[in-house]
Amino acid sequence: MNIDWKNYKPILIPAIKDLHKIDVYEKNGGYKALKKVLSGKSKMTPEEVVNEVKDANIRGRGGAGFNAGLKWSFMPKPDGGPRYLACNGDESEPGTFKDRKIFEYNPHSFIEGAIIAAYAMQIQTIYVYIRGEYRDFIDMMDVAISDAYKKGYLGKDILKSGFSVDMYTHMGAGAYICGEESSLMNSLEGKRGYPRVKPPFPAQKGLWGRPTTINNIETLANVPLVINNGAKWFKGIGAETHPGPVLYGISGHVNRPGVYEYPTGMLLTDLINEVAGGVPGGKKVKAVVPGGSSTPPLRGDSLDGVRMDADSLREAGSMMGTAGICVVDETVDMVDFTWRISGFYHHESCGQCTPCRDGTGWLEKTLDKIRRGDGEMRDIDLLYEICTKMEGRTICALADAAAWPVRYALDRFREDFEARCKKTVYALA
Ligand SMILES: Cc1cc2nc3c(=O)[nH]c(=O)nc-3n(C[C@H](O)[C@H](O)[C@H](O)COP(=O)(O)O)c2cc1C
Ligand code: SF4
Repeated sequence: MNIDWKNYKPILIPAIKDLHKIDVYEKNGGYKALKKVLSGKSKMTPEEVVNEVKDANIRGRGGAGFNAGLKWSFMPKPDGGPRYLACNGDESEPGTFKDRKIFEYNPHSFIEGAIIAAYAMQIQTIYVYIRGEYRDFIDMMDVAISDAYKKGYLGKDILKSGFSVDMYTHMGAGAYICGEESSLMNSLEGKRGYPRVKPPFPAQKGLWGRPTTINNIETLANVPLVINNGAKWFKGIGAETHPGPVLYGISGHVNRPGVYEYPTGMLLTDLINEVAGGVPGGKKVKAVVPGGSSTPPLRGDSLDGVRMDADSLREAGSMMGTAGICVVDETVDMVDFTWRISGFYHHESCGQCTPCRDGTGWLEKTLDKIRRGDGEMRDIDLLYEICTKMEGRTICALADAAAWPVRYALDRFREDFEARCKKTVYALA
């Protein structure tokens, strides 16, 4: 795969001054995709929109990488009752900070994508769930939504097409778990943010028991690009099986942390060394977490040829997740790093499932014991055992998200853990 990233010009968040303003967005081709779908000779049926987006293979940018159009096709046929689109801007996973750039710099690309998605699924109500700490971005979104209403892109009989949809922002209240789609729905309904048992899946029984689709903000911001340029064009960007532009959030030990837009399939080493300016002080990369804190850490000496797409990362032993890349230099002890991540998941467990409620606590406590120098070699085995008892046994994936960083840190950086454990030998009495 050859990606000419040095000549890449951002398309998801193009460098255009004041693009967040609706007039500037329109002047630069904004809302053209919506007009194409809803009016004139180019008018598309909802099924045609679903098929085009499915063909484009926009893989969900919220973490799981599921084909957006395929997800839309799971919605049952309209029965005259309410249907919902919930847009996920909770963005609470450590190392993930890219949806905020869309809210700030190109909110209308997301709004336009969400309206097209609503049309494709014949949805009348869109909720935009935004993490509460993003107060400023919620205000910016409210302005952008109000401007879209004024221009007739939201509300009744949009562009005289007969299609109507409303959009509302909803502020989160500081809980990571509310980014999980079923918990997000409970939170939107005004209930405690507990994840729901699946099945039933949201398309069958979502918000208020009605058909619902949940998509990430960045996923939806890609939709106008697909409608304007076609699925074939979109599939020509980046990795064949995971195409399109991606907002890479690069943090940790790099000289130029930030959010960078490039195609999928970028070499991790190019992103770290060229895009983000390498590691300060020329230190070695010890570990890289490629897609948010829940994705398994890779060893710094195993990055050659690893690309940022689902297939390449699976082969390397990790996941694309949210493309939030955290770089860890050689001065860091992976016991400390893993303990900090475990502390986060322990704090954020909603407590419904015993393996998660207790397991996250045990992981944190055991890692803390090792970190303080009180650990024994058998604590390493204990950590593995706790992970095994958490993975795949709970209502939602938070338990897996908590276990994987520990399991793979033990597998790949065992020397750090052993070095902090007492080499006690228990003699049989
Ligand atoms: C614990 C947990 C937290 C999550 N947080 C987010 C989040 O903040 N934003 C997000 O888009 N998806 C998050 N997800 C994934 C969502 O459940 C869902 O898969 C996603 O919003 C679907 O959108 P997509 O298909 O467009 O990626 C989270 C999942 C879990 C298990
Ligand atoms: S896995 Fe954890 S966060 Fe998810 S429902 Fe169970 S207790 Fe709650």
